[in-house]
Amino acid sequence: MRRRGARICPGLGAGLLALGLALGACAEPPPRFTEAMVLGGVEVSVDELNAGAKLYGLHCASCHGFEGKGDGPAARHLNPGPRDLKAGDFVHKSTPGDALPTDADLLRVLREGLPGRGMPAWGGMRDEDLRALVAYIKTLSPRWREPVSDPQRPSAGSE
Ligand code: HEC
Repeated sequence: MRRRGARICPGLGAGLLALGLALGACAEPPPRFTEAMVLGGVEVSVDELNAGAKLYGLHCASCHGFEGKGDGPAARHLNPGPRDLKAGDFVHKSTPGDALPTDADLLRVLREGLPGRGMPAWGGMRDEDLRALVAYIKTLSPRWREPVSDPQRPSAGSE
């Protein structure tokens, strides 16, 4: 009796596995973000965060690493290495000292790249995609979640 049961189950198991694979192959992976976040004092919608996460995985993680630590598979070929976006200490920016960059600073780096330094230019990307990337970069470092007294104005730093 037991044996018969054991013979049926593997068949059933294989069936379920096939179903699972079929579903897995069709289904989109679940979105990374389930709610909006306040980053640098500005609320970013869940859709924008998820769009940014997807683009980052496609275009940026190879160098900057999935967690933003600058340790992507392509990073070892680069000197200087890709910025550790998780640490949140940016250098290509208009703000003083160790202050975080403005959105305009980040957009400029993305659009123009950093010629000769290994950071490609993404000027061909749609504006809304670049903005989603800027929003997503901010989720990588806890620095952007600190309360700010003077939320960034979109125009700040573009002078
Ligand atoms: C081919 C590797 C590579 C890819 C792909 C890449 N980067 Fe970079 N990125 C770098 C390197 C190298 C630097 C550091 C240059 C420096 O220190 O001067 C950098 C710097 C940056 C900076 C500037 C940080 C600062 O210090 O101000 C930002 C922001 C950035 N990358 C975001 C991105 C985003 C977003 C993407 C995806 C659209 C991306 N990068 C794709 C290599 C890469």
